[in-house]
Amino acid sequence: MLIKLFLALSGISPHIKKLLWRQWYQFLAGHHQTKDWSFMNYGYAPLHDHSDMVKLDEADEPNRYFIQLYHHVVSAVDLTNLDVLEISSGRGGGASYIKRYLKPKAVTGVDFSDKAIRFCKHTHDVDGLSFVEGDAESLSFEAGRFDVVINIEASHCYGSMETFLGQAKKVLRHNGYLLYADFRNKNDVAVLHRQMERSGMKILRREDITPNVVRSLDLDNQRKLLLIRAFFQNWLVKPFQEFAGVKGSKIYTGFQSGTMIYLCYVLQK
Ligand SMILES: C[S@@+](CC[C@H](N)C(=O)[O-])C[C@H]1O[C@@H](n2cnc3c(N)ncnc32)[C@H](O)[C@@H]1O
Repeated sequence: MLIKLFLALSGISPHIKKLLWRQWYQFLAGHHQTKDWSFMNYGYAPLHDHSDMVKLDEADEPNRYFIQLYHHVVSAVDLTNLDVLEISSGRGGGASYIKRYLKPKAVTGVDFSDKAIRFCKHTHDVDGLSFVEGDAESLSFEAGRFDVVINIEASHCYGSMETFLGQAKKVLRHNGYLLYADFRNKNDVAVLHRQMERSGMKILRREDITPNVVRSLDLDNQRKLLLIRAFFQNWLVKPFQEFAGVKGSKIYTGFQSGTMIYLCYVLQK
C-alpha cells in the first residue's frame, strides 16, 4: 500500500519524485543510526568463478556484495592519487571502501540528505575522506575540481538525469571519468543511453550487470531478511523488504524477469 502510494505520487512530477526520495532517505538516516549499516545498494556477485572476488578485511566481509558493486564499477580506472567525488554517497560505506583500499588522494562524498551526511561524519573517520551536503543537480564545487566522479544506484531518484550529467561533467577535469551504475525499467534503457550520448562525454564502456545483481540478491537474501526483522518495526518490514530487493520483491522479480535492467557506464570528459 505504502509502496503503491509512493510510486503513484512520484509519477506525478520529477519535483515530487525528488522530494519523496529525500524524505525517505532523511527518515532512514534519522531513525536508523546503526553504524554497521553503511551501504544501500543491491550488490554485485561474479556469476561463475571467483575472478571478481575482492580481498577484504574481516570487518568488511558482511558488506562484501555491496563493496563488490563499487569495486566492479570503479576498478575501470586506477584511482591511485586521484581526487574523487562520490555523488549520492548515502551512508558512506562505498566512499570509505574506496579511500581505504584504492589509495586515491582524497574522496569527497556528497548527498542531499543532511542526516545521512551527519551519520557519515560520525561513522567514517578516515584520513582524506570527507562528506558534504549537496544536491546532485546543483553542485557547489568549482569546475574541473575532480579527476573522477562516482555515482552508484542513485540517479533513479533525481529530478533530471540531464542536469545531473551536466553537473558531473562540470566538476570533472578535462579527461576525467564518470563511473556510474544504476537500474532502469527496460523501456527506459534507451532513454538512459541517449542521455549518456548527449552528455558531452565519451562513452568508453557500457555493461548490463543485471545477472550479477540478481546473484548478489540471492546470496545475501537470508542475511537481509534477518537484519530487516531485527532493525525495523512491523509496519516497516514489508516496505523495507521491497526497498532492499529481497526475493519476491517487485524489484527482484523485475531484475529476474528482465523488466528491470541494471547498467554500468564509464564516461570520459
Ligand atoms: C540507494 S542510495 C545509494 C547510496 C550509495 N551510493 C550506496 O550504494 O550505498 C541513493 C542515495 O542517493 C541520494 N540522493 C538521491 N537524490 C539525490 C540528489 N538529488 N542529490 C544528492 N543525493 C541524492 C539519497 O539520499 C541516497 O543516499
